[in-house]
Amino acid sequence: HEITYFDETDSTQYTAHKLAQEGAKEGHVVIANEQTKGKGRLGRQWFSRKGTSVSMSLILRPELPPQKTPQLTLLTAVSVVRGLKKATGIDCDIKWPNDILINGKKLVGILTEMQADPDRVNSIIIGIGMNINQHHDDFTPEIRELATSVALVKGKNVDRAKIIAAVLNEFEQLYDLYIERGFDLIRPLWEAHSVSVGTFIYARTMREVIYGFAKGITEDGVLLLEDEKGKVHEIYSADIEI
Ligand code: BTN
Repeated sequence: HEITYFDETDSTQYTAHKLAQEGAKEGHVVIANEQTKGKGRLGRQWFSRKGTSVSMSLILRPELPPQKTPQLTLLTAVSVVRGLKKATGIDCDIKWPNDILINGKKLVGILTEMQADPDRVNSIIIGIGMNINQHHDDFTPEIRELATSVALVKGKNVDRAKIIAAVLNEFEQLYDLYIERGFDLIRPLWEAHSVSVGTFIYARTMREVIYGFAKGITEDGVLLLEDEKGKVHEIYSADIEI
């Protein structure tokens, strides 16, 4: 991998988009020790204080139809869970589509964005924000009860570089497998860690809130939700409450 490292940047996501426009190769990773304008899903802010979190963005250039992009988010979630397990021994859960939780609290967020470029294969930028060495007071009051970190779970600070290496290593292996053999081998890995499938959930989409039974995910990573009338909704993007 080529790695671009910043002690401080606005957002690794913006930087990765810029590098992709300038022709960065597949596998290029942008890592920052601190982001001053970290970006979350749905226009939210993402907080990352110096020295505590891991903020990174991967540039990918797969030759995939755009509707398959959600598969890469799911693949990333599996890589993070496996990397964290290897590097720290902790077991975490995946909440569709892209949150990594421990005991119901958020440990990692993933943000997948596409960049269309007429001159070359489109790029996909996958941002991963991991809470590693935050202590309770490092989180802002609004998220303090909703978020957790590896240090809070383990009771001690951990080596961030080791976690970055483990997650990137898992990602690389799964991504190669995915490019060669498709999503079929990735899906069961995702399902094994998922807490949002096989249970009743609320899905808050842009338009409505649907309550129902999450039956599973489709080949394209779309969530299938059966409401109380038995109608099955295909959920492309939503906030899930379990
Ligand atoms: C979410 O759960 O809302 C997604 C959070 C994604 C945060 C990461 S940190 C690295 C990359 N750079 C950003 O500005 N955002 C993503």
